[in-house]
Amino acid sequence: RPGLKVNIAGVELKNPVMTASGTFGSGLEYGEYVDLNKLGGVVTKGVASIPWKGNAGVRVAETYGGMLNSVGLQNPGIEEFIKKDIPFLRKHDTKIVVNIAGKTLEEYCSVVERLAGEDVDLLELNISCPNVKEGGVCFGTDTKMVEYMVKEVKKIAKQPLIVKLTPNVTDIVSIAKAAEAAGADAISLINTLLGMAIDIHKRRPVLGNIVGGLSGPAIKPVALRMVYQAANAVKVPIIGMGGIMTGEDAIEFLLAGATAIAVGTANFVNPRATIDILNGIEDYIIKHKEKDITSIIGSLNK
Ligand code: DOR
Repeated sequence: RPGLKVNIAGVELKNPVMTASGTFGSGLEYGEYVDLNKLGGVVTKGVASIPWKGNAGVRVAETYGGMLNSVGLQNPGIEEFIKKDIPFLRKHDTKIVVNIAGKTLEEYCSVVERLAGEDVDLLELNISCPNVKEGGVCFGTDTKMVEYMVKEVKKIAKQPLIVKLTPNVTDIVSIAKAAEAAGADAISLINTLLGMAIDIHKRRPVLGNIVGGLSGPAIKPVALRMVYQAANAVKVPIIGMGGIMTGEDAIEFLLAGATAIAVGTANFVNPRATIDILNGIEDYIIKHKEKDITSIIGSLNK
């Protein structure tokens, strides 16, 4: 069997397959389909300093090759999360990556501070949610703001910091470089692509929030292009995501330069997607007679 271990900022993952934030909760509901011990890591749903109700009205819509969501970062708040989710995940042999949300720098910092003494492996700073008026995309689309946020959070973070980027920008390279310069230990991309759907009979937007984030196969080429560009612009490891449905999709991201990948929308279509993708990666390595996973990462012929 080929070696599948990868390293993200000093944290060793048994394989490169993780869940994408918000699509797996904290793993509890997936226990029936997925042995969490098999995953490289579980990235939890974004958590804020206090509970958030999320957006009103319809929050999810299916589109051609994709899914639109405008959840608005509904979450139970950090205290509840620490009480329930961390102990559940800790029972498994997988890495815990906590996705962090906030409306202000102070809110992000209070979550990071609260996690300082907790047994979690990595933090993922969510400065890229398209569905909240404050705290989401408005931080992640501006290089100066990215630099400021990451620098301040990095000062107090006790775990290595992944910064999650948005595709809703024209120049992903300067955003990725700004995150790295400010001290990001790894970069994950992409969050969802801003989109919209209309119910022509009601003549109304489908989503209560009018616009939402597009995910799934529809955004895979955009994600792959951004992962490739970021991987060639920074030295820190890249975690790639955006429409990965199969092992072959995951291999594309690894070839483009991602050290690890995350599976999101595919979990809703096939609850065992992470496991199928992991098996697909292993099959590819064996078929291509590679020594291990590291000889694939960033090995695109040009
Ligand atoms: O598409 C997304 N939806 N990205 C996020 O970062 C958060 C989530 C939500 O809760 O709206």
